[in-house]
Amino acid sequence: MALLCTGRLLASPRLAAAATRASSWWSHVEMGPPDPILGVTEAFKRDTNSKKMNLGVGAYRDDSGKPYVLNCVRKAEAMIASKKMDKEYLPIGGLADFTRASAELALGENSEVLKSGRYVTVQGISGTGSLRIGASFLQRFFKSSRDVYLPKPSWGNHTPIFRDAGLQLQAYRYYDPKTCSLDFSGAMDDISKIPEKSIILLHACAHNPTGVDPRQEQWKEVAALVKKRNLLVYFDMAYQGFASGDINRDAWAVRYFIDQGINVLISQSYAKNMGLYGERAGAFTMICSNAEEAKRVESQLKILIRPMYSNPPLNGARIASIILNTPDIRKEWLVEVKGMADRIISMRTQLVSNLKKEGSSHNWQHITDQIGMFCFTGLKPEQVERLIKEFSIYMTKDGRISVAGVTSGNVGYLAHAIHQVTK
Ligand code: LMR
Repeated sequence: MALLCTGRLLASPRLAAAATRASSWWSHVEMGPPDPILGVTEAFKRDTNSKKMNLGVGAYRDDSGKPYVLNCVRKAEAMIASKKMDKEYLPIGGLADFTRASAELALGENSEVLKSGRYVTVQGISGTGSLRIGASFLQRFFKSSRDVYLPKPSWGNHTPIFRDAGLQLQAYRYYDPKTCSLDFSGAMDDISKIPEKSIILLHACAHNPTGVDPRQEQWKEVAALVKKRNLLVYFDMAYQGFASGDINRDAWAVRYFIDQGINVLISQSYAKNMGLYGERAGAFTMICSNAEEAKRVESQLKILIRPMYSNPPLNGARIASIILNTPDIRKEWLVEVKGMADRIISMRTQLVSNLKKEGSSHNWQHITDQIGMFCFTGLKPEQVERLIKEFSIYMTKDGRISVAGVTSGNVGYLAHAIHQVTK
């Protein structure tokens, strides 16, 4: 009001602006930082250097650096178009053919859980949305603890997903920066001290950001320990097929835990293994004690989902469902997943050999030892900063690179740049 009544104040544009700010509902809202992963893409887009590389976000590129739409996806889309399918709402829990096939993909077709019906799977908004459904369910119904134990480090979005759902974040040792590999004894030691009936998050395969997974023998020890500690296990499985190129091998840990009688929670994403990034297709599964319990849990999941986003998006689930449920398209998909995984493996080898050619005397073996989409290079924040500033090579501050963004055309440039900042 002072602004309108006093001519003197109105005469000063600076004061008028300040007064407008002060009277706003949102004057207390502070500028937030860019997202640690997706913010890298924003910075990359602003860069005009023709040699620039985006190794930030985990999104697969073909060998010419272009986004890659799988052939099986194109076929599924053609089927959808030719059938002139409707655009009705999906049920709250999602497309039934999709959720059933997702559970089967995670658990294996001969799973006892599938046969007995002691599970529930709902469609989620890709991996993040599926994790968030699980987190919200835990917030509402898991009464023994608020604490979720994440591996150190974990995917950058895990913390806000669980925190915003009202849970508390804790950590267990996972990665040893000195060896650039798994700190298995540290992990076992920390897990053995987690209070009973807490929640532990495990990456099913292709750990993000480190690319370091336990071996099968080590998984067995982890399973025995979490069973002994009576921990609730939540598997994030965003990269099934992307670690080894084989969907069954990559689901080994999840299936082993279930075989040990551990009733896990699982989030799945089709962003990476079907390249359905923007379609937001994912699934959330809970293994229950029996089919009747699963029905009760399902009813509550629907009650949680309905006010969040009513019901999930249709198109991505339709595409994934056609791929999973049409035998010849599924076969083609499995070949394409392996093709993506193999190209990444070959880029790892090429990066190491190019670093050697550059004359680097460091031990880069972890680049080829690590698996999946990411390599945790061990580069320090100041080296990352130089790669961005001097070479326009973008990556997250922790030194993670998305190997999927490396091509035979730019691997030499990358090796040269890494050598320059590490020699
Ligand atoms: C990543 O870690 O880069 C991906 O999972 C993409 C994302 O949403 O962060």
